[in-house]
Amino acid sequence: MDPEHDEFPSAASHTLEIPRPPPARSWVLDVAGPEAVASVPLEYGRRLVLGSGRLCDVRVSDRAVSSRHCAVCVGELGVAVEDLGSTNGLYVGSSRLGSVVLTEEGSGFVIGRTSVTLRSSEDAEGSPAAPEIPGLIGRSPAMRRVAEEIRRHARSRATVLLQGESGTGKDVVARALHTLSGRSGDYVPINVGAFPDSLADSELFGHRRGAYTGAVSNRSGAFELAHRGTLFLDEVAELSAAAQVKLLRVVEEGVVRPIGASQPVRVDVRVVSASWAALPARVAEGRFRVDLFHRLATVTIELPPLRRRKTDIPLLARVLLERLRDDVGEKRLSGPALSRLLAHDWPGNVRELSAVLYRAAMRTPGVDIQEQHVELPETLSPAANAAREAPERAFELLDAQAGNVSAAARAAGVPRSTFRSWLARPLAKAQKRPNTLTPPSESLTQGSTATLGDSDLDEASPARGAVVK
Ligand SMILES: Nc1ncnc2c1ncn2[C@@H]1O[C@H](COP(=O)(O)OP(=O)(O)O)[C@@H](O)[C@H]1O
Ligand SMILES: [Mg+2]
Repeated sequence: MDPEHDEFPSAASHTLEIPRPPPARSWVLDVAGPEAVASVPLEYGRRLVLGSGRLCDVRVSDRAVSSRHCAVCVGELGVAVEDLGSTNGLYVGSSRLGSVVLTEEGSGFVIGRTSVTLRSSEDAEGSPAAPEIPGLIGRSPAMRRVAEEIRRHARSRATVLLQGESGTGKDVVARALHTLSGRSGDYVPINVGAFPDSLADSELFGHRRGAYTGAVSNRSGAFELAHRGTLFLDEVAELSAAAQVKLLRVVEEGVVRPIGASQPVRVDVRVVSASWAALPARVAEGRFRVDLFHRLATVTIELPPLRRRKTDIPLLARVLLERLRDDVGEKRLSGPALSRLLAHDWPGNVRELSAVLYRAAMRTPGVDIQEQHVELPETLSPAANAAREAPERAFELLDAQAGNVSAAARAAGVPRSTFRSWLARPLAKAQKRPNTLTPPSESLTQGSTATLGDSDLDEASPARGAVVK
C-alpha cells in the first residue's frame, strides 16, 4: 500500500481490525528544565501525562508548568503531543499549538520554562549521573561524554587537544582539566595565534636579561610559568612553521632554552592545546607538522556545537542569567522566549547565547524575558527562506489538487506532514498579530495541529518545520 494515500481510507464493505505494528524506532524524551534534566523512555501506545502535579506520569519541577500540562503518546504517525488546557501553553518555535506530532530526532516543544526534545533511544548511552566538571554546564548525552573524557584524563600527564567551534567551551575545559589534575603549579593560558612570530620565542620560552636590546630583565616564558602546572596553548593551528619546530623540541625533551640563557631549564608541564580548525586537516594540507600533532594530541576531546545539544539550553540560560545578575538584575526566560532560543542554530555557540541573553536581559523591564526581547540574527538557509514563501501558497496548491493534501504536497515537493503544517500556518500568524499584548492563554492557535519532522529545512531542532511560525 502506498503510505501516501492512507490519509483517506476508502469506504470498504467490511472492516478488519489489524493490530498496528509498533514502529521500528523507540524514542526517549529529554525533559530539560531550568533545574533538572530527565530522560523518559516512551512506549508505543502508552499515553504519558507531563505536568508539575504529583499524579503526573512525568513530573516536571517547573512552576510555569501546569499540574497536568500535556500528554504524549507514540503512535503510528510519530509522537503525538496534546496540550491538556495548560495555562502557559505548548510552544514550537514562536507558535502556541493545541497539539503537534513529532516525527524526527531533535524535534521538540516547550512547556513552561522546560524544553522537551525527542531522541532515538539507540543513543541513550552514558551514565545518568554525569560527573560534575567545574565551570562546565551541560547534561546532554554529548556533554556527558565530554565530562567523562575530562574525568578520565584529568589526572594523567597525557597531552590533550581540544577541538571545537568558537564558543563551545574550550577554555572552560582546559581550565577544568587543570583544576581536576591535582597539579600544584599554575594554569597558564596563552593564545599562540595572537602574538607575532617575532615574539613567539620570548613568550613561550622567556629570555634572560641582556639577551637582546630591550631585554632589561629576566622574563620567564609560558613554559616556566606553568612549571608543575598546565600550559594551555590556544589557537595552536596558527603557530608558524618555525615556532612549531621549537615547540616540538620542548614537548619532546621537557627542557626550555630561554633566549640568552647559558643552561637549559627543565620544566614539568602538562600541555593542553585547542584549535578551532580541525588539526588533522591542517596536517593533511601540510600546514601543521604531523610529529607535533601527535605530540599534542595524545588525547583529543571534541566539544560539540550547541546546535547538537539543544537540551542544554534551558540550564545554560538559567546559569548564564545568574552570572549576569549583578549587571542586569534578576531575570528569567518565559516559555516562548526559551522556545525561540531553541529554534536558533547558534553558530557562535555558548558565547553567542551569553551575548543574546545579555541583550535580552537589558531590554527586559521586569523579571520575565519575553519572546520579543530576544533578538536573534536571521540564520535561515536559502532553502528555508524559499520554504517561507511556499506556505503562503499552500491553499492555492490545495485548490489546484481538488483538496487532496498528498497530491498538493507532491506538487510542492515537500513531505505531506510539512505541507499540513503550512496549512496550519495562517492561524499561527494570526496569533502573532496582536503582538505582545495577548496573554498566551488567549491564543488563537489553540487546537491547531502541526506535524514537525520530515522537512529538510535545517538541522535537528525543536523548531524544525519552522514554517508553522
Ligand atoms: N559548557 C559550558 N558551560 C558553561 N559556560 C560555557 C560553556 N561553554 C562555553 N561557556 C562560556 O561561553 C564563553 C565562551 O567559552 P570559551 O571556553 O571561551 O569557548 P572557546 O574557547 O571554545 O571559544 C565563556 O564565557 C564560557 O564561560
Ligand atoms: Mg577560546
